[in-house]
Amino acid sequence: MLTSNLIGNKVIGFTLAMLLAFLTINLNVNPAAAQSKGEVPGQALGLNSDADLWRFIRNGNSGNTQLKGELAAVMIQSEGDNWRAVRNGPVSVYGAVGVLGIVVLLAGFYSWRGRITIDAGPSGKTIERFGTIDRFAHWLMAGSFVILAITGLNLLYGRYTLLPLLGPEAYTAFSIAGKYAHNYLSFAFMAGLTLSFFLWVKHNIPSKVDVEWLKAGGGLFKKGVHPPARKFNAGQKIIFWAVMLGGLSISLSGIALLFPFQTAMFAKTFGVLNMIGFDLPTALTALQEQQLNQLWHGIVSLVLMTIIVAHIYIGSVGMEGALDAMNSGKVDRNWAKEHHGLWVKEVDAAAKTAKASPAE
Ligand code: HEM
Repeated sequence: MLTSNLIGNKVIGFTLAMLLAFLTINLNVNPAAAQSKGEVPGQALGLNSDADLWRFIRNGNSGNTQLKGELAAVMIQSEGDNWRAVRNGPVSVYGAVGVLGIVVLLAGFYSWRGRITIDAGPSGKTIERFGTIDRFAHWLMAGSFVILAITGLNLLYGRYTLLPLLGPEAYTAFSIAGKYAHNYLSFAFMAGLTLSFFLWVKHNIPSKVDVEWLKAGGGLFKKGVHPPARKFNAGQKIIFWAVMLGGLSISLSGIALLFPFQTAMFAKTFGVLNMIGFDLPTALTALQEQQLNQLWHGIVSLVLMTIIVAHIYIGSVGMEGALDAMNSGKVDRNWAKEHHGLWVKEVDAAAKTAKASPAE
């Protein structure tokens, strides 16, 4: 009994002595001093600054990782700085200048020229300009484009303009709804774009008549001037090709943004451009591709919006009788003669031929 008590006391005494020794050793080490020298457990560098390592990381170099995917090994993707600077700098600034600038320009044009009226006055007789399918294609493309433009502008400028107006909650709700609208309506735009292309491309091949129309400024700047034009005049052909090529480019870059890291369109395009004398990088990471997609999508969209504001103006308030073409599909004959004289002749001639030899 006595012996077992003695053994028990020895064990307790030994344990207490060890604990005391452990605490003494550890208390002698000042943790703050250790941190200031960078001596943290595990041989890590701690607060010690390693300029070379930091420079290596900051310049976007990749290290080693167990994670799959090329992006995981890069701790800091430095091109992100350039991307942000271009997006929030020139793209935002020049984009706003373009879209607001054209509104100011058109307001100036309107106050100088007024509404372009039908010089001969309305005849009261109409001629069919666009069938149901044409108008469906136009409004599918136009309606979706307008919503895509508004929700896209919100992504770029919303936090500076709408957020202070609406407050964080309403702005968040609007932006989330806008994001879904933007993602899904893009398909309606692509459908309208494709349909319009096939319906109207044959009327939009450049011809000699266009030179004459352009030389006369389309008759837009002077009353009583009516240069010749077929179904689409040179100005409309410019709009058509801007919408088709711009729309295609926006669609492709938009799809690449919807399904990220799947495409290498810029590397391929740069490769082609290099063949004609450019010197552009072709070894792009998936993230760099994505950044270029985003910038390109924004730039082309802003240019197209600027053009479309002018189109909407001339198709509505700017010109008497124009909107009827996309509303009822029928326009006044005098309007048609003044703006599309050769086309009216073609339609009349075709009607005459059809009358002379009616279908059996
Ligand atoms: C939202 C307001 C819009 C209005 C009031 C409008 C009005 C019109 C009108 C009246 C025409 C027929 C012109 C004619 O008879 O010669 C037309 C044609 C056309 N529209 Fe629009 N449009 C609008 C939006 C858009 C949008 C957003 C796009 C494309 C993104 C677009 C693309 C076109 C194209 C390609 C044509 C055929 C070429 C041309 O006339 O310039 N429109 N539009």
